[in-house]
Amino acid sequence: MERTFLAVKPDGVQRGLVGNIIGRFESKGFQLVGLKLVQVSRELAEKHYGEHKERPFFPGLVNFITSAPVVAMVWEGKGVIASARKIIGVTNPLNAENGTIRGDFGVDVGRNIIHGSDAPDTAEREIALWFTPAELCNWQPSI
Ligand code: CMP
Repeated sequence: MERTFLAVKPDGVQRGLVGNIIGRFESKGFQLVGLKLVQVSRELAEKHYGEHKERPFFPGLVNFITSAPVVAMVWEGKGVIASARKIIGVTNPLNAENGTIRGDFGVDVGRNIIHGSDAPDTAEREIALWFTPAELCNWQPSI
């Protein structure tokens, strides 16, 4: 079954949005299979955002993601990677549709509440970077 990596960033945690955000993925019908609060190291941040290394916002992005705890999650379900991206909204919250997480809660591209893997290969890489296999639970709803 398909899996994706999601992380509520420091701004989402500090604004008390974790419950609301988890609720949206639960209500949609996806299964939470991994969950932890992480004080992100610079090493993890630089690996996670490695593709943006040459971008001018990279130092600020690493500083921000390491500044306070992040809620790291793995979600499972049919089409979860693309569906989660729709639930999250586009990168810049100012352009995100109302009803999406970023559209409802943000105005600043550098404070866009949540990260979600953008494709199957990225999801696989990010899950392996943030979680050990033992930290993930295999389960299916029985109802
Ligand atoms: P995320 O989905 O976590 O992936 C890369 C992040 O870089 C993105 O969300 C934004 O938070 C951040 N980002 C992208 N563009 C900019 C920008 N122009 N200025 C600051 N941060 C940016």
